[in-house]
Amino acid sequence: MDTKIYQAHELAEAAEQIVAGELVAFPTETVYGLGANALLADSVQKVFEVKGRPSDNPLIIHVADFSQVKEYVDNFHPLTEKIVENFWPGPLTLIFQIRKGAIPLVATGGLSTAAFRMPDNKKTLDFIKLAGVPIVGPSANTSGKPSPTTAQHVYHDLHGKIAGILDDGATQIGVESTVLNLSDLNKAPMILRPGAVTKEALEEVLQSTVEIDGHLIKEGEIPKSPGMKYKHYSPDTQVMMVHPEDWPEAIQWSRDQRLKIGLLASPDVLKEWGQTIKETFSYDNNSIEAATRGLFAGLRALDEGADVDLIFAQAFPEEGLGIAYMNRLKKAAAQKFFEK
Ligand code: TXA
Ligand code: MG
Repeated sequence: MDTKIYQAHELAEAAEQIVAGELVAFPTETVYGLGANALLADSVQKVFEVKGRPSDNPLIIHVADFSQVKEYVDNFHPLTEKIVENFWPGPLTLIFQIRKGAIPLVATGGLSTAAFRMPDNKKTLDFIKLAGVPIVGPSANTSGKPSPTTAQHVYHDLHGKIAGILDDGATQIGVESTVLNLSDLNKAPMILRPGAVTKEALEEVLQSTVEIDGHLIKEGEIPKSPGMKYKHYSPDTQVMMVHPEDWPEAIQWSRDQRLKIGLLASPDVLKEWGQTIKETFSYDNNSIEAATRGLFAGLRALDEGADVDLIFAQAFPEEGLGIAYMNRLKKAAAQKFFEK
C-alpha cells in the first residue's frame, strides 16, 4: 500500500478514506494520531494490528465538538460543562461511562467507559467534520516507539501500512493529552495521565479538588488507565536522566568509560557541557515548554539517527508541565538517573 501525504486542500479525500474504512494519520496540538472510523469495528481492529498495540489498551475517540459526545453518553459528571467550556478544543481527554453497545468494544478495550477528545487543530477538526463520524486516534507510532510529533515520524513508522498522513508540520505541545477520569459521577475528577492541562489549571477553573492517580506519584501502585502500564516511549538506545547539578560528573564519567554520548538538553546546558560532544539535540529554548515539544523528536534523532552508546537527557523539576515531561522521559529512561 502506498501511503499518501495529504496537504490541506486534500482534506475531503482523506476524510473519504476514513469513511471507507482506511487508516489516515492526522495532526493534533499534542502528537500525531492514527485515525480510523470509530464506528467500524474492522477498521479499529486494523489500528491495533498496524501499531502492534495490546488489545486491552483502549483508544481515544476524537470529535469535532462536544455535541458529538452526547450521542454516546447519557450521564455526565456535574463538572463536565465547565471543563469542556474551558479546555476544549485542547490537550485534555475525558473519560465517560458510555451507553452500552454505542461504540464497538474493540475501541474501548471491552470497558464500559470511553475516552473522548476534541483536538485543537483546525485542519483535523475540519477533517473529522468532513468524515461525519468520530475518529479513534492513538498516537501514530509503532508501539514502544516515542509518539510522533511530525508527519515524517509517522511515515517512518507506518508507511506502506496506512492509506495516508495529513501533514501539518511539527506539533506544538509534543506530549500526549492529559487523561481525566469523569466516569464516576460522585467522585472528584482524577488525572490518569499527565499532560499539558495540569492539575493546578483544572483546579483553578473548577474551584474544586482534582485527584491524581496514585501510581503517578508512588512507585509500585497499579495505574488505573490501561495504557499507562506498558513501557511506552522507549528508544533502543539506553537513556539516562541527568539532574542540573550532575552534568560535570556525568560528562566526566562518560569520558572515563569511553562512551559515545548523545546529549538531549536545553541550549544553556549544551553551551556549557556539550562542547566536546558530537551528537547533541537542542531544545528550541530553555523553557519546559520547548523541552516538552522537543522530547520525542530528540529521542528519535539520537536513537535512530546517531551512533551513540547512551543518551543523557536533561531532567526538569516535577511541577506544572514538568510532571508530563518527566513522566514520558522516565519511561524512556526506565526510571534511571545518572548517579554520582
Ligand atoms: O494527545 C493524545 O491524547 C494523542 C492524540 C493523537 O490525540 N492520543 C493518544 O492516544 O495519546 P493513545 O492511544 O496513545 O493513549 C490513550 C490513553 C491510553 O493510556 C489509554 O489507556 C487511555 O488513554 N484510555 C483510553 N480509554 C480509556 C478508558 N476508558 N479508561 C481509562 N483510560 C483510557
Ligand atoms: Mg500512545
